Amino acid sequence: MDFQGISSNFLEAGVEALAVAVFKGEKATSAGLKEFDKLANGHIAAAIKSEEFKGETGDTALIRITPNGNIKASLLLLVGVGDEKEFNEAGVFITAGTATRYLRKCNVKTFAFLPRSKVNTVATVQNSVQAAITSQFELDKYKTKDKNNKAITKVVVCVDGANTTELKTGIARGIAIGDSMNFTRDLANEPPNILTPAEMAKRTAKMAKDVGLKLDVLNEAQMEKLGMGSLLSVSKGSDQPAKLIVLRYTPTRNSAKKGDLLALVGKGITFDTGGISLKPGEGMDAMKYDMSGGATVIGTMRAIALLKPTVPVIGIVAAVENMPDGKASRPSDVVTASNGKSIEILNTDAEGRLILADAVAYAEKQGATRIVDMATLTGAVIVALGDQNTGIMGNDQALMDEIINLGKETGEGFWQLPLGPEYSKQIRSDIADIKNIGPRGKAGTIMGAVFIQEFVDKAKWAHLDIAGTAWSDAVRPHQAKGPTGVALRTLVKFIEASQ
Ligand code: BES
Ligand code: MN
Ligand code: ZN
Repeated sequence: MDFQGISSNFLEAGVEALAVAVFKGEKATSAGLKEFDKLANGHIAAAIKSEEFKGETGDTALIRITPNGNIKASLLLLVGVGDEKEFNEAGVFITAGTATRYLRKCNVKTFAFLPRSKVNTVATVQNSVQAAITSQFELDKYKTKDKNNKAITKVVVCVDGANTTELKTGIARGIAIGDSMNFTRDLANEPPNILTPAEMAKRTAKMAKDVGLKLDVLNEAQMEKLGMGSLLSVSKGSDQPAKLIVLRYTPTRNSAKKGDLLALVGKGITFDTGGISLKPGEGMDAMKYDMSGGATVIGTMRAIALLKPTVPVIGIVAAVENMPDGKASRPSDVVTASNGKSIEILNTDAEGRLILADAVAYAEKQGATRIVDMATLTGAVIVALGDQNTGIMGNDQALMDEIINLGKETGEGFWQLPLGPEYSKQIRSDIADIKNIGPRGKAGTIMGAVFIQEFVDKAKWAHLDIAGTAWSDAVRPHQAKGPTGVALRTLVKFIEASQ
């Protein structure tokens, strides 16, 4: 897909279609629309009057126009953005994605987009480009027929008064983040017979080489040496050896406070059968996405390598398959993690926290002073928050607040759940230091978090439970159903804010 940024002459962009953001309740006679309504022979006024188009988020109306003179386009798409006062970066993202998906369906190849946003120019262009890219992602990779065969080849983004540098920067940033989101989503969508832990490491290696990140992949023998008995207890039941994927981004100019290091840590369960505590067959197929946290870490590191912020970041992914076999952990097994804590495994299906325990401890050993972990950790977070908010918990309120607030800009919801000593008590074991589950039916999401907290020493830490947000069961106007790449956009902002 090619991108071009312009600051005027929107109508004369030389494309097949024009897409214009329209506010809720906006009249065709408004300063922003009246020229278009004239071009459309009053059809905008008619669409608004008949209430066929109201300007709500996701609303669309396609109007045919007659090309004339310098105007080559024959289609005008109105895209609703909702309340003008609330139109932010997230709104630009949804609007641009909606336009791109809609016009692709109409077999359009080239179009110009007028976001009409008041947020800063770079962010407007960036979000338009990002969404144009992510809106094209489809689940049909393994189809041999009935594949989507339509493609948008060129998008022209128009922001009034933008200068060349802003347009260029916005486009480059949008491509970096949009492609990285699709990279994450592609990993999450891969079938588990193809995306094994080794394959996840291999694809990460190729990406690292392409964008210039340093990579170490620890094998099981190396993890054994480091005492990672918790992580390895999960992979024991699988024929696929576990990999600890470690990506390092080091800036050329480092503006971080001396000694400060951020670590992103991801759960990379390439398939979760539950192990000996076997999951029911129905719906088990969904568990291929149980590596989404890891995929987000890898995609975020990719984006960071391209955006080059002035702070170092390390990305750690525990890639493991959770299977039941003769070597698998049994409920009641006791294992010891790399920080010396003993764990009674009472449910082998609470495996995410077992692998994150050693991964988080490893992050701190590598010098991390701040850790953000992300995981499709609990079904309970879906019950609590559904698919609109990621559960966030941690030991540092300022760190959590920062992520929550940046999420408001990107449109990614984060909702905090409480932690505390009374919750931590509930994972004390009768025979070991801790057990890997809490009391049945009680605060399941928090139990996952307080378990991971046992493996954080001095670092500031936030835990993101993305079980409800990493996969969308329904197609949305701006996005295919399936993997969402959730948290990547907010994490990029978070990293850039700490420069
Ligand atoms: N990967 C699952 C969590 C999950 C469940 C994600 C459903 C998405 C949809 C995790 O490993 C798991 O099995 N968690 C258990 C924990 C329980 C045994 C304490 C759960 O949520 O049921
Ligand atoms: Mn599980
Ligand atoms: Zn799992």
